[in-house]
Amino acid sequence: MEAISPAELQPILDDIAHDMASATDRGEPAIYIPELGSVDPGQFGIALCLPGGETLQAGDATTPFSIQSISKVFTLAIALGRLGDSLWARVGREPSGLAFNSIVALEHNNGIPRNPFVNPGAIAVTDAILHGLQPRDVLAELLQFLRTAAEDDDIHIDKDVALSELAHAHRNIAMAEFMASHGNLQNPTALTIGTYCHQCAVDMTCVQLARAGRFLAGFANAPRLVSPSRVRRINALMLTCGHYDASGDFAYQVGLPGKSGVGGGILSIAPTRASIAVWSPGLNAQGNSKLGALAMERLAEATGWSVF
Ligand code: DON
Repeated sequence: MEAISPAELQPILDDIAHDMASATDRGEPAIYIPELGSVDPGQFGIALCLPGGETLQAGDATTPFSIQSISKVFTLAIALGRLGDSLWARVGREPSGLAFNSIVALEHNNGIPRNPFVNPGAIAVTDAILHGLQPRDVLAELLQFLRTAAEDDDIHIDKDVALSELAHAHRNIAMAEFMASHGNLQNPTALTIGTYCHQCAVDMTCVQLARAGRFLAGFANAPRLVSPSRVRRINALMLTCGHYDASGDFAYQVGLPGKSGVGGGILSIAPTRASIAVWSPGLNAQGNSKLGALAMERLAEATGWSVF
């Protein structure tokens, strides 16, 4: 397939942003984290980076939002770099078919979470990185990873969001304790959950997130942060597990690896073609951005970028 030029892509993004701005059925922001519940659902942004170094954007693409579970992609990359394949003794690689915060799978699997993107899986990954370090060291490493990936130092943690989640983290704490009962937690629960809530509270814009995703798209000129074989495997997990119990639907409708967050963001990768970030705070029933998923469908249809 012929590569689509930036000049052809820009009107596609403009059209999508225009239609999403006037959509009436936008979903509801995540209210279980009070700070996120008050974000204006009327916003929509999209940005993409191309192999030639161009970044295109439309809508609210420079408004910071809480990346939430999208952080799990980056902590996974850090953990694999640090621990290698021994990480897989603590977390599986299978879709769960369950909500991101479901507890039941843990009991069926002796405290081993199904994959690194459901909450207990990401908590196990954070716990693995934390081992022997202080939370501030792990968070500094994550921020450094993101800033290097995006080539932008203006990426920070929103403390109010972190504390808001921490004050309502009963379910994540319960899952961490359950994992601890099976020997699958190495640090005190409070340290691991405190680190996890802060990692989820990183603020980024669509432009920053699309730029940070370039290392997963296999661009020659992107910062090289993990090996090509790991890039393939992280993309495989994003495709199969990145949208929780809507992962099959996202693969069917969009055909690209993607990772969502309850802040309403989605990072999606069209290998060798584009790193894409979309954001709209209203969520669907599975906790993924309603308009974000719709926008990705539109973009995949217009570009033919599906991996299938
Ligand atoms: O642990 C939580 O519930 C949130 N910090 C992250 C969940 C999330 O983003 C799920 N994504 N759609």
